Amino acid sequence: MKVLVTGAAGFIGSNLVHLLVRERPNWKITALDLLTYAGNLKNIGSLLEEERVSFARVDITDAAAIGDLFSREKFDLVFHLAAESHVDRSIMSSLEFVNTNVLGTQVLLDAALKSKVERFVHISTDEVYGSLGSTGYFYETTPLDPTSPYAASKAASDLMVLAFCKTHKFNASVTRCTNNFGPYHFPEKLIPLFITNAMEGKKLPLYGDGMNVRSWLYVTDHCEALLRVAERGRAGEVYNIGGGADAELPNRDVTFAILDMLGKSRDLIQPVGDRPAHDRRYAIDHSKITQELGWQPSTPFRKGLETTVAWYQSNRSWWEEIKSGAYRSYYERNYANRG
Ligand code: NAD
Ligand code: TYD
Repeated sequence: MKVLVTGAAGFIGSNLVHLLVRERPNWKITALDLLTYAGNLKNIGSLLEEERVSFARVDITDAAAIGDLFSREKFDLVFHLAAESHVDRSIMSSLEFVNTNVLGTQVLLDAALKSKVERFVHISTDEVYGSLGSTGYFYETTPLDPTSPYAASKAASDLMVLAFCKTHKFNASVTRCTNNFGPYHFPEKLIPLFITNAMEGKKLPLYGDGMNVRSWLYVTDHCEALLRVAERGRAGEVYNIGGGADAELPNRDVTFAILDMLGKSRDLIQPVGDRPAHDRRYAIDHSKITQELGWQPSTPFRKGLETTVAWYQSNRSWWEEIKSGAYRSYYERNYANRG
């Protein structure tokens, strides 16, 4: 089986490659990534020593390079994760999001169709559904109502994938997952930013009233769901993926949990101005994937958070290197006008 993972040096992609190497010893894996600011080859470095894992530095928007790769390798299965993924960056500048997330997905679809890829899994997000009030859940049938340029670009790419399933009888599924957390998470997102800032004794910039709710899923649970969808999911179907009831939490409570685990004072919390159009609550109904494919989240939120905190404690050089580079000018720009 020849498998392509795009975005393989990013957070979820690298965790997926680790899982596939462990659980599918006969698969030959091509790990593709452009290595943007968010991609880090160290995330999969140890795996590249294996003969059956290779790395390709390719831009998914480069139709010629992608076409060559697909006709040469004749992939059986594609996991498509490459994306611009951070909401705050999409607010500061949106063009790259349309370029990578919409155009890049289209380039992959064209190449996959032409080279007769058997199965394609498009990894998307629950953010395409927009924002919930204090009750209710996102279902696969919930209308798309994205509020950030990031979410809008993901929704557009989802629709192109689903249109290919209808028009060309293309064998793809779309997955929509809640917020992930775990090892190799780039420290611009809430959980790794707050863990590392707290370890450095820096302030934790909590947006708005801190009561926006996210539903958290440990990254390995997400990757296991992706494997099931790849092997047993149905063409043209969307699968929601989400955490357990214990994982739906206001940002304030997640922040308290991080500070408590690190033995740090809550005085480090710094309330700052809110994100524009900040989605109030995400919560997913994942009963379809549970009933059809037998998947459910297995890592309790607190256990996953402890493992994650421990990983950032033992891999200090990984995130210190990131935080000392170009990241600093992004950080200054994003937090400069938040008061
Ligand atoms: P990430 O930002 O950590 O990784 C994205 C990777 O894509 C990076 O390694 C980057 O170098 C690569 N990339 C970007 N542009 C590229 C291009 N033009 N060509 C090739 N590679 C390129 O993101 P992540 O958190 O790992 O998310 C992966 C996927 O999962 C995304 O599609 C995202 O929308 C989706 N998702 C993420 C979450 C989450 O909580 N992180 C939740 C649901 C869905
Ligand atoms: P984030 O990790 O960016 O994921 P998403 O926006 O995709 O859900 O943010 C998670 C939540 O944390 C979101 O409600 C915004 C909030 N947040 C902060 O309060 N402060 C921060 O510095 C960041 C990055 C996020």
